[in-house]
Amino acid sequence: MQSAVNRNYLPGHKQGGSVGRHVIDERAPFIAELYRSRALIDMLEGIAGERLLPSPPDDPHAYALYFYTRPGDHIGWHYDTSYYAGRRYTVLIGVIDRSSCRLDYELHTRAQGVAVVPGSIQIPPGGLVFFDGDALRHRITPLREGETRVSLTFEYVTDQHMRRGWRLISKLKDALGYFGFRQVFARRARLGRVRPPGPVSGTESQ
Ligand SMILES: [Fe+2]
Repeated sequence: MQSAVNRNYLPGHKQGGSVGRHVIDERAPFIAELYRSRALIDMLEGIAGERLLPSPPDDPHAYALYFYTRPGDHIGWHYDTSYYAGRRYTVLIGVIDRSSCRLDYELHTRAQGVAVVPGSIQIPPGGLVFFDGDALRHRITPLREGETRVSLTFEYVTDQHMRRGWRLISKLKDALGYFGFRQVFARRARLGRVRPPGPVSGTESQ
């Protein structure tokens, strides 16, 4: 996978590497099988209390790997905003964690009259965190020198239709902030055409 990592850098907000679903389909299809696992989805539906659907085929966040390999790799405070008509749930799974990175979060930031509850956890390999993306304010703290962190993320939605006009905004955000134009706008990245790590466009390069 490492030869397909797209490095991205948004000053003051995020820095790291990503591999989206299209590359995963080519190189690690067992991850896609886990994403569609009925047993996993049943468990998550039991927690969410509602029916969950896989993200549409052109959404690179459906399943993605995040590689933190350089000092300072992180993502600042944000929500996993849903561009869909319904809710968007996030699953974070620890794959490699030789790092001091933490998932810091704040519960109830958007709930009226409820006190905000802060928290912080480390996600060990095999550890799983599940939340409603629009409800949990969260960040990953910066990687330090000599550390490595790889995590896997799954995205499920309650409605596969995107809000009107938001598809292009969502795709541009994914191209600039995560996976690069090649991974986002190509329907399917072909193995032989995946570039080694490096600048894909002027905006993404570091
Ligand atoms: Fe997030």
